[in-house]
Amino acid sequence: MQVPNFIIMLGNRRNLIFRVSIVFNIAVFLYAAVHYSGNSPQGVEWVPITSDGSERAAELRYLKEDVRNDTVLKLIEPSARIFGEFTSQKVVPSTMSTVKQKEKRPSTTADVDKKISAVPSEANIINETLEAYDENVLSDSTLTLLRALLGCNDKDFIPETMQRGEFWVLKNYVRANHGAISCHESITYTTHGGFEFLDNLLPLIERWMAPVSLAIHAPGSDMLPTVNSIRYLRDCTSSDLVMQYATFHIFFSNKHIPSNIPDPEIFLKTPYNCTDKPPYVVNSSTTYKQQKNLLYPINVGRNIARSAALTHFVLPSDIELYPSPDLAAKFLNMIARNEPPLSTSTNPRVFPLSLFEVDKNYVAPWTKTELQSMLKNKTAIPFHKYVCPTCHNIPNGKEWMAAPEAKYMGVFHVGKRIGKQSHWEPIFIGTNEEPYYDERLSWEGKQDKMTQGYILCVKDYDFMILNNAFLVHKPGIKYYKKNVKRDKIGSKQSSYVRNVILPELKKLFGVKHGCVL
Ligand SMILES: *[C@@H]1O[C@H](CO)[C@@H](O)[C@H](O)[C@H]1NC(C)=O
Ligand SMILES: *[C@@H]1O[C@H](CO)[C@@H](O)[C@H](O)[C@H]1NC(C)=O
Ligand SMILES: *[C@@H]1O[C@H](CO)[C@@H](O)[C@H](O)[C@H]1NC(C)=O
Ligand SMILES: *[C@@H]1O[C@H](CO)[C@@H](O)[C@H](O)[C@H]1NC(C)=O
Ligand SMILES: *[C@@H]1O[C@H](CO)[C@@H](O)[C@H](O)[C@H]1NC(C)=O
Repeated sequence: MQVPNFIIMLGNRRNLIFRVSIVFNIAVFLYAAVHYSGNSPQGVEWVPITSDGSERAAELRYLKEDVRNDTVLKLIEPSARIFGEFTSQKVVPSTMSTVKQKEKRPSTTADVDKKISAVPSEANIINETLEAYDENVLSDSTLTLLRALLGCNDKDFIPETMQRGEFWVLKNYVRANHGAISCHESITYTTHGGFEFLDNLLPLIERWMAPVSLAIHAPGSDMLPTVNSIRYLRDCTSSDLVMQYATFHIFFSNKHIPSNIPDPEIFLKTPYNCTDKPPYVVNSSTTYKQQKNLLYPINVGRNIARSAALTHFVLPSDIELYPSPDLAAKFLNMIARNEPPLSTSTNPRVFPLSLFEVDKNYVAPWTKTELQSMLKNKTAIPFHKYVCPTCHNIPNGKEWMAAPEAKYMGVFHVGKRIGKQSHWEPIFIGTNEEPYYDERLSWEGKQDKMTQGYILCVKDYDFMILNNAFLVHKPGIKYYKKNVKRDKIGSKQSSYVRNVILPELKKLFGVKHGCVL
């Protein structure tokens, strides 16, 4: 595993900050606990608020002894862990979670604001205060602004066993140690896979450094190596990043229920024996899924992972696609600045990322500038250039590649899914309000994101392409290989989409000139 030095340093600094904040927050907790036992109204106010009307439920849960213990963990300075910044604001979590009005700022944060010169706004972003403006950090004032702008609701972070069509879902089976997160303070990378893809998780998180929601398909005997892989990644890798950021959900068909479903409460108490090789390093033809010839229910996984995210913004992606670093903070700072076209367009919007592949002997580029020099000497190429050159074309893609890295994250171009892009299956940052993925489609059948693309087109979405953000596939350039079996499933799925799903979508969402599947 190649880990750049500065990541490790960052990790250490993070740990120190983390420890300081634990001590700090335990003090706050004790204070609040005393307060609460006195039944004072302030004590109630302090309970994390999950959404409108659920204060009472949160309060009742809080009264339970075990949850109160849990709350100590949850209080640990979320923004410190998400972005490595220690701020004092979280000592008054009640104010953070109750800002509802758009204009009015809570008086309790005023003191904090005074200490921060860089309130990012359209005016001072251009001005000298900008010296202090770091788009890789979310300041307290930016967080306050985001809270008001997004008006999102915080979500519970509890394990649940639920059903989704023919699938059983163990939601939040193993939770990241980050604890509760407010919906405005980070972005969740949401993804899916079989355990044999988990080698991608650490390199992905090293670049993302924010929450990851991962749905793992674990039918039958794939369950045990899945659990072992999770344990290995949490206990046996060179950093604690997986433990900090990754939340695992498990799903399997009701026809392939594992014979044994280990209880995380128990297995997480025992450290994994790290002497063996990583359990996710297997010949993929040996998995239960392959042996039983099961199709991969890709969109079930996508939807589970996305809907379980705690944050307002999500990046639904494929686990082999590694994001450009510090994307979450840069993106949220851009949202908080709210410059045109963000402030001017009234259409619904998503934020597509440009996609690339790099040679297997190279590390994924860290910045757009680095990416451009790799494109020049062909050690990087546009995604699927040799597999399906037009599938992932983004509008103004050539211009994007030619344009130098901008100083700050922004919108490069606003595109639509029409004309040359009418079959586009973009990967984008969006929210849970965007249409979900059709769960009847399999990965083997291909074009599994088309139906979502069609709905986005009919709803006249703006595709706000980000200037500096990109995704790089796990190193190794792909070439077209004929796969007779997959082609057969593909043509079946394609006719199903045209003959069954499209008429449904037309009834539900209507039609629009230029919108096709
Ligand atoms: C809280 O957790 C600690 C350690 O996990 C445990 O020893 C203690 O009994 C718990 N307290 C309550 C009230 O559950
Ligand atoms: C930038 O600062 C200067 C002086 O410090 C001020 O005159 C000018 O109006 C400011 N510009 C903006 C856009 O705020
Ligand atoms: C871990 O596994 C190795 C080899 O399987 C074994 O030799 C070793 O004793 C185990 N360690 C522990 C702590 O169980
Ligand atoms: C994986 O196993 C299959 C069947 O046992 C074998 O044909 C194939 O060569 C193996 N692949 C690798 C990469 O070892
Ligand atoms: C291509 O460019 C990258 C980035 O500048 C550089 O690291 C790499 O060595 C170059 N490779 C070749 C084969 O020229």
